[in-house]
Amino acid sequence: MSTQPSTSAEEAVRTLFDMAGTLRPAAIRAAATLRLADPIAAGTTAAADLADLVSADPDRLTRLLRYLAALGLFERTDGDHYTLTELGELLRSDGPLSIRAMLDADGVLGRADLGTMDLVHTMRTGRPSYEKVFGTDFWSDVQRNPAYAESLEAVLGSGVGWDAELIIDSYPWKSATHVTDVGGGTGSLLIELLRKHGHLNGRVVDLPNAVAAARRRLAAAGLDSRGEATEASFFDRIPTGSDVYLLSAILADWTDEEAQRILRTVAEAAAPDGRVLLSEVNLPEAGAATDDPASTAADLYISATVTTPARTTSELVRIAEGAGLQLSWRGPGTEVRSLLEFTVVS
Ligand SMILES: C[S@@+](CC[C@H](N)C(=O)[O-])C[C@H]1O[C@@H](n2cnc3c(N)ncnc32)[C@H](O)[C@@H]1O
Repeated sequence: MSTQPSTSAEEAVRTLFDMAGTLRPAAIRAAATLRLADPIAAGTTAAADLADLVSADPDRLTRLLRYLAALGLFERTDGDHYTLTELGELLRSDGPLSIRAMLDADGVLGRADLGTMDLVHTMRTGRPSYEKVFGTDFWSDVQRNPAYAESLEAVLGSGVGWDAELIIDSYPWKSATHVTDVGGGTGSLLIELLRKHGHLNGRVVDLPNAVAAARRRLAAAGLDSRGEATEASFFDRIPTGSDVYLLSAILADWTDEEAQRILRTVAEAAAPDGRVLLSEVNLPEAGAATDDPASTAADLYISATVTTPARTTSELVRIAEGAGLQLSWRGPGTEVRSLLEFTVVS
């Protein structure tokens, strides 16, 4: 009997090695981070000149270029001269289909991807591997470097998502005059709220990088007379004076204890008569089993990045009650959104 592995078994080994390989993504991301395709597109082709333009070590960069040429991103001509292939074009900063920013190791998304590399930490501890890889939680890390603001804006700044229309259309906004969007990011939701409800004024409260982007975006939308953005941490103290404090897609990034601390800060600002409008994402399906590769990947990716406890409505109500809030209104829900209003217990 033959002890040789069958061809299909050898293929399976090769396939699995290929699937598990880390060098190829690391090399492509290094090229994206160095913006290597830009000077090539502009006509510089010699490896030594490229190294100079992207501030890289010439010898090491030549190895990277050769490897990426072997993968089909560049075409190598006349020794170490390089031009872009159709694949390499996608790494230009300015192309219509560019994915360079998403792969940039210094950008928010690229960094989050790298944060999944110690996934075994998430398996062993239940905590995001991001914290192990970078030594801090995702949202604090986003604040650490002002350069992340640009990437954050690119990721969060493009309109409202995850059925957020529910908040805009289903809450009786006529009963409010001023809303604070707590953790309101780059202001997308506040901008839509102010556009749709002309009597409303509002404020985004978030950490500095998001606030800077929110200010720019409110001004660009012509809404800076009705909307402002204030730097504050929802773990410390947030401004008083609004009649509605909105939290959209906030608590799922935090543990029960942290979520309760956030709600306590918000309840202090809202007291005595303000309302707290909580709109969490992903409630009904949290934890639902699925074989779909995209949703299982998204689920795993998020758990490697942020805390993401899956909570039912009654769990949310229990946490809110522990923060001195009581349920006062239950809005309609969608498959991915809930809408709950609380008042402060006197
Ligand atoms: C998942 S995003 C939600 C953004 C927005 N509310 C939405 O519905 O798309 C979480 C937001 O919380 C903000 N955030 C994280 N930690 C914070 C803190 N300590 N204080 C205030 N905002 C914080 C982040 O900067 C980010 O904008």
